[in-house]
Amino acid sequence: MEEKIKEAARILAESKHIVAFTGAGMSAESGIPPFRGEGGIWNKYDPASLDIEYYYRYTQQSWSIIREVFYKYFSSSVVKPNPGHEILAKWEKEGRLDCVITQNIDDLHKVAGSSTVYEFHGNMSRFVCSKCGAKFPAQSLKLTEKPPVCPDCGGLLKPDFIFFGEGIPLDAYNGSVEAAQKCDAFVIIGTSGQVSPANMIPSIAKQHGAKIIEINMEPSTYTKHISDIFIQGKAGEVLPKIDEEIKDKR
Ligand code: APR
Repeated sequence: MEEKIKEAARILAESKHIVAFTGAGMSAESGIPPFRGEGGIWNKYDPASLDIEYYYRYTQQSWSIIREVFYKYFSSSVVKPNPGHEILAKWEKEGRLDCVITQNIDDLHKVAGSSTVYEFHGNMSRFVCSKCGAKFPAQSLKLTEKPPVCPDCGGLLKPDFIFFGEGIPLDAYNGSVEAAQKCDAFVIIGTSGQVSPANMIPSIAKQHGAKIIEINMEPSTYTKHISDIFIQGKAGEVLPKIDEEIKDKR
């Protein structure tokens, strides 16, 4: 692994435009379970409960699962960024990293200090009214077992993350494609690559000549055909090691 970390650090030290593309594995060391693989959320819950039609049609059933999986869990434990999130925020501050494209809805990149974050699947720390469109921070709402309603108009509130069957936020989509086309190094961190259209972003970077570095606990759909370097390990441990190596190259 050490050789690959050195090689990744050499590539990143020479890169002018780095983009990080993160999935649930990025937050695993912050105590948030991934969706697939060992301990995955979809091993316990049916993803259909996150389908937008299901939410509007069977609101109580869908909300009970959403609250259990995302909100009860988050409010009960202090979920905070891990060293991996912090390194990405540091690289942005150093002018090394252009942006983070994340599939995660946990807000941890922003909490860690990253500012250009394209939230491909939205963000669970906000709710949006399905009737009047007003948005509210999750903390400002009392999230009980009853589906949340809009303080302004009484309409049904929906977590501001993207349900299956919903479109990707246009600003996140366009920003991500543009960044992937422009970057010279693209770091894929903790994603299985199972969900489209997010999973086509790495190939855009590849097609535009970027060097692809992948950090994952196990091979993903990218490892064979897209990744130039595959580093098997935990995001929160590998990223600080790469940063250490880059420091020595300054
Ligand atoms: N460090 C690095 N990688 C890790 C770690 C870790 N500590 N722990 C787990 N992983 C890897 C797993 O090996 C797996 O490849 O993270 C990946 C998590 O994959 P998924 O659970 O499928 O998460 P993700 O790829 O982000 O899912 C994409 O699916 O359900 C939807 O909207 C949801 O955004 C999510 C999308």
